[in-house]
Amino acid sequence: MQGMLKSESLKNKTIIITGGGTGLGKSMGKYFLELGANLVITSRKLDVLQNTAAEMIHEKGGNVLPLACDVRKYEEVEKVIKASEEKFGQIHGIVNNAAGNFISPTERLSHRAFDIVVDIVLKGTYYTTLAAGKNWISKKQPGTFLNIVTTYAWTGSGYVVPSACGKAGVLALTRSLAVEWAKYKIRSNAIAPGPFPTEGAWSRLLPGELARKFDPADRIPLKRVGEHQELANLAAYLMSDYSGYVNGEVITIDGGEWLRNGGEFSHLENVPTELWDMMEKMRGK
Ligand code: HXC
Ligand code: NAP
Repeated sequence: MQGMLKSESLKNKTIIITGGGTGLGKSMGKYFLELGANLVITSRKLDVLQNTAAEMIHEKGGNVLPLACDVRKYEEVEKVIKASEEKFGQIHGIVNNAAGNFISPTERLSHRAFDIVVDIVLKGTYYTTLAAGKNWISKKQPGTFLNIVTTYAWTGSGYVVPSACGKAGVLALTRSLAVEWAKYKIRSNAIAPGPFPTEGAWSRLLPGELARKFDPADRIPLKRVGEHQELANLAAYLMSDYSGYVNGEVITIDGGEWLRNGGEFSHLENVPTELWDMMEKMRGK
């Protein structure tokens, strides 16, 4: 549960984290700051960002620029790029972390409800990617994208269908640009986290009774949810020069959750020892 990288691993790097005022964005940001990065955190709520920036600077020192930006508005995204360069000179990395999500049977969703999630997740990510990529390419600067997806980006999942569609698109974007923009020294990678407790995710995906009925740890071979520092360690590595040859990868950090739930016989973990003993006897052992 400790920081993994050498101190100053991100020194002199400026990193923008969308949705950086709360949850996993905030945890990644704190660690990047500890490693010497200049940080720009964005989301729709400036007051939340300002409080987070003050907390980060109090705990870790360093430079944090909080900027209000709705990732669905291209002009606002361009303004973030400009303001970040004015403050820090050059941008080195972008973490596309902002997301929207909720659970619902799909047939109960209005088209606006579908739009809102896909627009934040997919449009928000490609707007930020396009604005930052064009800027880097025109200035002949290298850069690193890290996109936060989910494991259902490739399995799909009922009850979070707009999010699954959005995240699948983000994964396609990650892999496509890893190839197309490598010639500009722009790397693109993704992280697919399993459950990591955050107020944002838990309140929307496990509301009320559901939190009592379904413990996410039950679905996970390691029988626990993720620790924020574990994710922050992986993200810092992918944003650092140590991962300079990693490009186009999606790294899963989920305690084995998605494979377990895809494995046809994984449910046999519920078979008690006595039953295994009985079956062994029946085989004549
Ligand atoms: C059905 C819903 C709904 C719900 C909103 N809508 N919530 N429909 N079930 N629970 C519908 C509304 O009725 C409306 O449609 C449309 O969606 C827009 O709703 P608003 O409330 O006006 O939108 P807004 O205020 O912009 O809020 C966006 C939001 C909200 C996505 C709905 O939840 C939000 O701000 N989320 C940001 C943070 C977040 O979601 N974090 C969790 C990420 S977790 P109509 O037709 O009525 O106009 C994550 C983890 C995945 O991604 C993996 C976990 C393991
Ligand atoms: P979170 O705290 O709710 O983070 C989502 C952030 O996105 C918020 O800071 C929110 O801030 C911002 N945001 C939403 N709409 C936006 C918009 N239109 N423009 C700009 N920012 C916007 O939840 P989290 O759990 O930390 O999620 C972070 C990332 O991890 C997401 O990509 C999520 O899909 C992914 N993830 C999380 C888990 C998990 O278990 N927690 C699992 C898998 C993947 P504002 O409301 O202020 O805009």
